[in-house]
Amino acid sequence: MQNKSSTNKFDTHTTILSNEKVAEDHYLLRCAGSKIAQHAKPGQFIHVLISNGAGLLLRRPFTIYTVDEREITMLYQIIGEGTQRLSEMPKGAPLHVMGPLGNTFNIEKNPEPAILVGGGAGIASLMLLAVALRTHDIQTIGLVGAQHQDRLLSIDDLTAIGVKVHVATDDGSVGHQGFVTDILTDMLNKNHLHRPTIYACGPHAMLAAVAKITTEFEVPTQIAMENRMGCAMGVCLGCVCPIRIDTNRIEYQRVCTEGPVFNATNIAWEI
Ligand SMILES: Cc1cc2nc3c(=O)[nH]c(=O)nc-3n(C[C@H](O)[C@H](O)[C@H](O)COP(=O)(O)OP(=O)(O)OC[C@H]3O[C@@H](n4cnc5c(N)ncnc54)[C@H](O)[C@@H]3O)c2cc1C
Ligand code: FES
Repeated sequence: MQNKSSTNKFDTHTTILSNEKVAEDHYLLRCAGSKIAQHAKPGQFIHVLISNGAGLLLRRPFTIYTVDEREITMLYQIIGEGTQRLSEMPKGAPLHVMGPLGNTFNIEKNPEPAILVGGGAGIASLMLLAVALRTHDIQTIGLVGAQHQDRLLSIDDLTAIGVKVHVATDDGSVGHQGFVTDILTDMLNKNHLHRPTIYACGPHAMLAAVAKITTEFEVPTQIAMENRMGCAMGVCLGCVCPIRIDTNRIEYQRVCTEGPVFNATNIAWEI
C-alpha cells in the first residue's frame, strides 16, 4: 500500500537557478522552493506553468528529482512544445510551480535489495526514492535503460549515493544490448536475492513488461505512472488509470491524487 497524498501543497512563484543540458534532449532544472523541498517525498511531483511564450494554458507535471533545504530540481526530456520552451528558459526566469503533489513510494518493509527500474526519463522519478533507501542503508540496485549512450541519465548521481547500477541500451552502445527488463528477468531467475522489492518508472510498455515479470516471480512492485495530466488536482479526470479492485471490478483512479504510485498487480494492464 502506498502512502497517501500529503495535504501540504504550495503554489509558488519561483526563479530558475540553472537549466542545463545533461544528455541528448534532457535537461536538469534547479529552482528555488524551500517549502516544496521541505515537504517533498519520494515519488511526488510538481505541476509547472511554463510561461516562456504565449498559449500554454495547461501546466506540465514533473517528478521532484532532488531536494535540499532551499531548492528542488527536476530532470526532464524534451517531448513537445512545453518541454521545448522550458529548455529555452534561462537562469533567473520566473517559474510558477505547485507541489508537492501525489502519493509516495512506500519503503516501510525493508527490501533486500531494492531494485529500481528506470526507462528513459523515468529514472528521474526514482531518484528521491534512491536517496531515501540509501539513507536507511538499504542495498539498492539501479537498472537504467536508454535508447543509446548519449541519452543515459543519472548514472553518476546514483553511483555517488552507493546504488549499484546496471545499464541497458537499445543499440548496445553501452551496457547490455536490449531492455532493462532483460536484466531484471536475469536477476530474478538467478534466485539469489533474499527479499527483493521492485520500484519502476518509464514508458508504459516497459512498465507493463516489468509488472508481467514481477507478477510471475511474485515480487512486490510499485510503479509510478506518468499519464498525461490536466489539472493535477483530482478534478478533470484527464489522468485516470484502470485499477483492479477485485476479480470482477475495475475502477478508474486518478494518477494525480490516488497515484502516481500504484502496486503493479492492481493496474489493469490489458485495458
Ligand atoms: C506524475 C508525472 C511525473 C512526470 N515526471 C517527469 C519527469 O520527471 N521527467 C520527464 O521528462 N517527464 C515527466 N513526466 C512527463 C511530462 O509531464 C511530459 O513529458 C510533459 O508534460 C510533456 O509536455 P510537452 O508540452 O513537452 O509535450 P506535449 O506537447 O504536451 O505533448 C507532445 C506529445 O507527447 C505526448 N505526451 C505528452 N505527455 C505525455 C505523457 N505523460 N505520456 C505519454 N505521452 C505524452 C502527447 O500526447 C503528444 O503526442 C511526468 C508525468 C507525470 C504525469
Ligand atoms: S489531472 Fe485532472 S484529475 Fe488528474
